Amino acid sequence: AAAEKGGWSSFMAKEVSEEPDAVANTLRGRVRDGEVVIPELDGLDDLFLGISRIIVIACGTAAYAGQVGKYAIEQWTRIPVDVELAHEFRYRDPVIGTDTLVVSISQSGETMDTLMAVKYARERGAKTLSICNTQGATIPRESDAIVYTHAGPEVAVASTKAFVAQITALYLMGLHIGRVRGAIAPADAADHVRELEAIPGKIAQILEREQPRVEQFAHWMADTRSVLFLGRHVGYPIALEGALKLKELAYIHAEGFAAGELKHGPIALIEPGQPVFVIVPSPRKSAEMHKKVISSIEEIRARGARVIAIAEEGDAAVLPKADEVLRIPLAGPFFEPLLAVVPLHIFAMGLATAKGLDVDQPRNLAKSVTVE
Ligand code: G6P
Repeated sequence: AAAEKGGWSSFMAKEVSEEPDAVANTLRGRVRDGEVVIPELDGLDDLFLGISRIIVIACGTAAYAGQVGKYAIEQWTRIPVDVELAHEFRYRDPVIGTDTLVVSISQSGETMDTLMAVKYARERGAKTLSICNTQGATIPRESDAIVYTHAGPEVAVASTKAFVAQITALYLMGLHIGRVRGAIAPADAADHVRELEAIPGKIAQILEREQPRVEQFAHWMADTRSVLFLGRHVGYPIALEGALKLKELAYIHAEGFAAGELKHGPIALIEPGQPVFVIVPSPRKSAEMHKKVISSIEEIRARGARVIAIAEEGDAAVLPKADEVLRIPLAGPFFEPLLAVVPLHIFAMGLATAKGLDVDQPRNLAKSVTVE
């Protein structure tokens, strides 16, 4: 097993280090001169032309990838996108039919809840596309179309590199559908492709520059009993993913919230010393959103929260506001989640390690849940 870990202390440490490759390999052969060309979707335009809605179904981390994808896919295709947990989807007689594209996301391709939802959707006439990391798995075999993620085998129970690969595949799919439907200008699509191509290098930069610091925080926080995560827009599902990872790996009570929701309830949780990670949106993209998140930071800090901000390089406004600032490289709209999640994965892994826990095999969890 030591050899399989390639010198890393755990499969998870190895898999987090492979996040740049997971994105690069998922892009390989699918982008050319600023255009998305997905050979697997050749001849399948019909799947995308007659639809008026997209429903993404998944469980766990894969569902958070779906929530991230929703923002860009809606923007690029102008098709409404809903994201639902697979096990909730099937039990409420959803309004679906031949105008619906159901996109499932599953690392293993064997999650029973997701599989049953895909079968259910198909029986009701919906079109189905599977985003999956495992060649030949059951869910892709049950689907009309497949876009594989090429993250490589993921051994650690909690998903890391597959998550960034899933977002990458969703973005490729969104750009593909946008082109097929003529919903996106080629020049805009080319910009997004360039953004995607730059992501692996940027993730590598975060691993190189911030990993030791994040591990240090995790070590200091080994006795923490609760951590909160705040994000807005595409940062919101990243807050949820940061919290899930911490629950899974470190058995710590953790919650993610939409920053705007703070005043509607969660702020009551803030007491002196409460650690809160805040994903700060880029001020270059939306000065308004940035200002709002900074004022959320001010509100929780006034109540004693210890704020660890994840902010883009050059965002000076955040410095005097937060206790700690972790930097991520600049990225275009929709692309920061692929970067902001990296310190959160490192943090959860670091905290679990500091507590002496087995990060690869957390208690009570299975890599692939093949029962409903
Ligand atoms: C299990 C794992 C999670 C994973 C979820 C979905 O609960 O513990 O890490 O996110 O299943 O798995 P899938 O293989 O469908 O992506």
